[in-house]
Amino acid sequence: MKLDVEGRRLRLNPRDPAFYQDPYPSYGRILKDCPVVFWEEFERWCFFGHRQVDTILRSRRFGRSMAQIEGAVTREPILEVDRHSLLDMEPPSHTRLRRLVQGAFIARRIEELRPRIERLCHELIDQIERRHEVDLLATYATPIPVVVIAELLGVPTQMSQQLLDWSHAMVAVYELGPTDEQIVEARRSADEFVRFLRGYVERRRRDPRDDLLSQLIAAEEDGDRLTEDELISTCILLLNAGHEATVNVIGNGALALLRHPDQLSKWRSRPDLTRSAVEELLRYDTPLHVFHRWVLEDQVVHVPSGGELELPQGTEVSLVLGAANHDPAVFHEPECIDLARSKNPHLSFGGGLHYCLGAPLARLELQIAIPILLERLPALELDSSAGEPSWKNTYHFRGLDALWVRP
Ligand code: HEM
Repeated sequence: MKLDVEGRRLRLNPRDPAFYQDPYPSYGRILKDCPVVFWEEFERWCFFGHRQVDTILRSRRFGRSMAQIEGAVTREPILEVDRHSLLDMEPPSHTRLRRLVQGAFIARRIEELRPRIERLCHELIDQIERRHEVDLLATYATPIPVVVIAELLGVPTQMSQQLLDWSHAMVAVYELGPTDEQIVEARRSADEFVRFLRGYVERRRRDPRDDLLSQLIAAEEDGDRLTEDELISTCILLLNAGHEATVNVIGNGALALLRHPDQLSKWRSRPDLTRSAVEELLRYDTPLHVFHRWVLEDQVVHVPSGGELELPQGTEVSLVLGAANHDPAVFHEPECIDLARSKNPHLSFGGGLHYCLGAPLARLELQIAIPILLERLPALELDSSAGEPSWKNTYHFRGLDALWVRP
């Protein structure tokens, strides 16, 4: 890593294993010396400090899209479906779509999913508890969120593998510098996904069921409805976002616990810690590390290391959530895992208008899945014969390749 504090420039390859295997020491240095910096590999200004990331997430002067700004030149999305995605809209379109989707989402009453999620977790443990060694990521962390979101929407759970394949191919283009091959594969997957959903939505229109998809089809407020394109994009967003991050909180979280046996046994003996423990795992090894924003109107921002930075309209900036969650100005001993941490305003679910719509569902899954894992497998340990666990070469989505354990 090369950090030029005076010139506010950073050279750091996010695909260098020395960085992405453990980005937190680099973040520590950047936070200390230069928390607003031009990251050359990303070719944009990046914000690392908690206060600024939080402020920008909530600011209406920054947005996920320039589409609402008259005359603005905006970058074409790599995937056509993103054009109608809630995540890539700003008010007034965002307000309208979010209200319609949230209405249907809340109507599903997330808390009522508790018994189903518990049963699913127990069934998965039944299949692994007698094995000598097992990859916890493939057998536990991955199936939970994908089965839950598929069932919630009303998509057959036998399609889980197909949903995972489409999603993984699509999200690869959100990493830095996707290859032509990855772009082609992502577009092919998105086309297949859209084709499948168009047919599926058609069937649900004729034959509504008690599921989120039928509710989204029927969603109406003040005579307003989702268009067909919005409906398809929303289903894809929910299905992909519904599992891509949660799996990594279970995987990264389980590894963090196995590496901190004192915390692991503390949680086992104090189930009342579950809520704060899940929040701490979300913070400690942040599953989604970086999100971008467009500057919607010219502005000058204060730079904590000194001076100011001019940001003209149309500039793209990045917010490094993973670093903000380790900012010592906000978190006491950020590199320590403390399941009882009482002050924990982590930004793992974002903030402001785009605050994660699925946060209550993700929290519920985590508050069920991890305690069941700890309770059902009292001798759970890392399988040292499999070598040190390593993280995938996907900086944005921070997750393990595999997590080999002895149940
Ligand atoms: C631990 C798991 C999860 C994490 C860490 C996470 C994180 C995030 C973050 C950071 C954002 C905001 C992005 C931005 O501001 O640019 C977001 C948005 C979103 N998430 Fe999640 N998410 C998780 C699980 C879920 C689940 C389970 C669902 C769906 C069921 C979901 C659906 C969404 C949707 C629809 C948005 C877009 C909201 C909008 O633009 O208004 N997420 N998520």
